[in-house]
Amino acid sequence: MLLLKEKIINEGVVVNNSILKVDAFLNHQIDPELMMELGREFSQRFAGKNVTKILTIESSGIAVALTTALFFHVPVVFARKQKSSIMNENSYSTQVFSFTKNTTNNVSVLKKFLPPNENILILDDFLANGEAAMGLAELVRQAGSRVVGIGIVIEKSFQPGRRRLLEAGYQVEALARIKAFENGRILFADDNE
Ligand code: G4P
Repeated sequence: MLLLKEKIINEGVVVNNSILKVDAFLNHQIDPELMMELGREFSQRFAGKNVTKILTIESSGIAVALTTALFFHVPVVFARKQKSSIMNENSYSTQVFSFTKNTTNNVSVLKKFLPPNENILILDDFLANGEAAMGLAELVRQAGSRVVGIGIVIEKSFQPGRRRLLEAGYQVEALARIKAFENGRILFADDNE
């Protein structure tokens, strides 16, 4: 998506050869017009999937999940993260390990907000190793609902997340795909790579 690529080039900061800082428009400060356009794009890419609910994870997935939900006219649910795993009979929960932050979070959602037989679109800001997306898909499985697609704002294609999600059988749509950082420059993957 050209608009997003331009934003990343103009306002993203390459921290090292694996991390991109996008706190100017996505992870800290949020650009609402950009979020609307990302939402519009996701709604087009997943049109025809009969999405009935959007599931994301706090915190940075929420903004784009909300604008996408406006186009689909469906609710957004965000999974909560806790350091400890407090089991709760009212919640579905699973463990998500972050390679980037070297932490494990217990990710949970109240059962009443994730009923069975829904068509769930999973959205998140970054795709690196795919742990967060796989964890969200596990919550959907526990609920007895279906994952109809996984939408990602920025995919780091040099990490294994996309391959894992494709191998698990999910449709993955990433709005910007980065194949490498090279001497502080951002190299985008072609959409067919
Ligand atoms: P994975 O889910 O694909 O396996 O990714 P990973 O665990 O490695 O990422 C953990 C956290 O780090 C996520 O944020 C993810 O969005 C973020 N992240 C991964 N790579 C980058 C990057 O290159 N740049 C930035 N800015 N963030 C990255 P989180 O812990 O869920 O935090 P939040 O911002 O959503 O609250």
